[in-house]
Amino acid sequence: MSFVEYSDVIRDGDVAIVYLNHTSAMPVKVQQGAQTQTRYGVIRHSTDLIGRRYGSKVTCSKGGWVHVLHPTPELWTVSLPHRTQILYTTDIATITMMLELKPGSVVCESGTGSGSLSHAILRTVAPSGHLHTVEFHQQRAEKVAEEFREHRVDHLVTVRNQDVCRDGFGVTGVADAVFLDIPSPWEAVPHAKAAMKRQGGRLCSFSPCIEQVQRTCQALADQDFEEISTLEVLLRVHDVRTVSLPLPDFGQDSSTRDPPSDSTAAPPNPPAVTLKTTTPPREIPGHTGYLTFATKPRT
Ligand SMILES: C[S@@+](CC[C@H](N)C(=O)[O-])C[C@H]1O[C@@H](n2cnc3c(N)ncnc32)[C@H](O)[C@@H]1O
Repeated sequence: MSFVEYSDVIRDGDVAIVYLNHTSAMPVKVQQGAQTQTRYGVIRHSTDLIGRRYGSKVTCSKGGWVHVLHPTPELWTVSLPHRTQILYTTDIATITMMLELKPGSVVCESGTGSGSLSHAILRTVAPSGHLHTVEFHQQRAEKVAEEFREHRVDHLVTVRNQDVCRDGFGVTGVADAVFLDIPSPWEAVPHAKAAMKRQGGRLCSFSPCIEQVQRTCQALADQDFEEISTLEVLLRVHDVRTVSLPLPDFGQDSSTRDPPSDSTAAPPNPPAVTLKTTTPPREIPGHTGYLTFATKPRT
């Protein structure tokens, strides 16, 4: 098992994702002799996990069942232990695309936080790219480095425990892309520029407040970045409903109408059609932050 390479069978030492339902998943370090408690009962690693295929349905001790899945960055994002606020897959997908990341890309990131974005970057740049990630909180830097080892992606990443605004990324002239998720990204813009390869390359900064965005855009313009643009990604979830609509009653065709009668019987009900439709939300909650993108000039 590795976060960047798929294996069929669960082995001792793997990190597997126990998928309970659409809203609940938990990572489990698979260990010979260990047990994991779930709301459906106990999972015994030696008999229920080791040697089984990823994707298997596992029956727990109380008779309920779960699926045991191979880890992916997306499953890690919804199950990782939060040490900070994290980025979610909607933003991550946009960041990966707009930074033009691909296998072989060299990326600088700060702060590392809980490593949610980092895992997605690593999967994208593998097998030959590299991530330089900077986190100034020592325990967070140590913990994420330990997770990278457990997830067998540590050969693709260097974790530096330093202040990116003061000390930069620890590399010069190598990055194809830089990503910032810190409270004062404008202070790190000159370091980002220095870390990027001499010509071209993309930068993205994530900020929850528009005032931070304004200061970052100003710093980017001062450093001669081009194509500066900010976007916000909102999920618009449509509810699927079955509705029954009466067909409109236009009355009788006058050319075939019977002569008037003095009958008092009610007209027949018009038939109805039943169909599936979706209702969009009236408001769209879920603001996480603004993504500001920019390009380093090629001159
Ligand atoms: C919101 S979290 C990043 C979350 C991360 N993007 C993720 O998806 O898990 C911000 C992190 O930046 C770190 N940080 C803030 N300012 C920093 C600085 N000047 N240098 C390095 N790290 C910094 C914080 O310690 C925190 O862990």
